[in-house]
Amino acid sequence: MKLGRVLVVGGYGAVGATVAGSLGDWFPGRVVVAGRDEAKALRLGGVRADVTDPDGFRRTLDGLGDVAAVVMCVEPPDAGIAHACLERGVHLVDIGATRRLLDGVGELDGLAAASGASAVLSVGVAPGLTNLLARRADEAVGGAERIDLTVLLGAGERHGADAVRWTVEHLAESAAVRPLRVELPGYGPRTAYAFPFSDQYTLPRTLGTAQVATRLCLDSRALTSTLFALRRAARRPAVRQALTAVLRRVHAGGDGFAVRADARRGDRRAAYALTGRAQSRVTGLVAAYVTRELLAGSLPAGVRHIEQLPALARLPEELAEHGVGLQRLDGPPEG
Ligand SMILES: NC(=O)c1ccc[n+]([C@@H]2O[C@H](COP(=O)([O-])OP(=O)(O)OC[C@H]3O[C@@H](n4cnc5c(N)ncnc54)[C@H](OP(=O)(O)O)[C@@H]3O)[C@@H](O)[C@H]2O)c1
Repeated sequence: MKLGRVLVVGGYGAVGATVAGSLGDWFPGRVVVAGRDEAKALRLGGVRADVTDPDGFRRTLDGLGDVAAVVMCVEPPDAGIAHACLERGVHLVDIGATRRLLDGVGELDGLAAASGASAVLSVGVAPGLTNLLARRADEAVGGAERIDLTVLLGAGERHGADAVRWTVEHLAESAAVRPLRVELPGYGPRTAYAFPFSDQYTLPRTLGTAQVATRLCLDSRALTSTLFALRRAARRPAVRQALTAVLRRVHAGGDGFAVRADARRGDRRAAYALTGRAQSRVTGLVAAYVTRELLAGSLPAGVRHIEQLPALARLPEELAEHGVGLQRLDGPPEG
């Protein structure tokens, strides 16, 4: 077990609060939260930190002196913060979902290997649990030619500001991939639309699958249709701004979520699904479990995605105690 503290950046946000809470239960006195609001951070025994300022972040790490791991629960503009951690031998867990940013951290593999630090990427629900389900489905068909991932989010959940910003920012992308009608446990048949979650860009490299696509829908059919009807309009900043404001206020639906992975190889098919409540909380739990594994010293040095780490393969089963249900489904998706 590597001793030292865990710095949870964004540690009082929707995801970060669960990370900090779970790790605080497991490692009392060793969790420090960070964010831009100094008064709030100090109230929680934490420190001020801004991920847009890598030099300031270096000073924060050096000032704390004994940080063993950093959990990134907010999206930074580039890989500067990851660099600051890995050059110091500080482990990193990143819940980010943006391809460009994860690729940037991936380029630091040599730096991490040299300093003995481990970085785990694709941590959360999507990416994260989707990557783990994709790996299972891929293995079940003996190496998939194609994987389809579907994510259903509850429109009634109070998603964090940064998560809503991320979703709206990416709405105008990936319109080229066709929608798919998919049966989701507990929700019935749903139409899901292409969405640029990073898992579909990572899995061709980590699993060797030629074609991977990720699609999104909301539990509210009406909101799903409205959201994707606005896809082209969302190229305009003013529309994105208005949409962000609406999504932060309208909570028309529940707080459940579902993810499904379908793999195909010739006429072989395999599908797995996971359902649960409160994706922000479950993302935080995934990050906390990954961090615990990191601190136990069971993960190799270097930068890896979650599906590349056998020690984390049974995470879906471990989450059963938090109401996350895993199922193997029969048959291919419709459509
Ligand atoms: N992998 C997944 O499945 C998954 C799932 C959900 C969310 N996410 C990602 O996780 C991120 C956080 O989502 P969330 O719902 O927890 O958002 P949130 O509730 O808005 O939390 C963001 C936290 O980060 C802090 N923060 C914001 N900007 C910062 C900066 N420049 N430097 C340092 N701290 C900063 C905020 O506090 P201050 O404003 O006081 O700084 C807040 O504590 C998003 O990027 C989202 O895309 C990933």
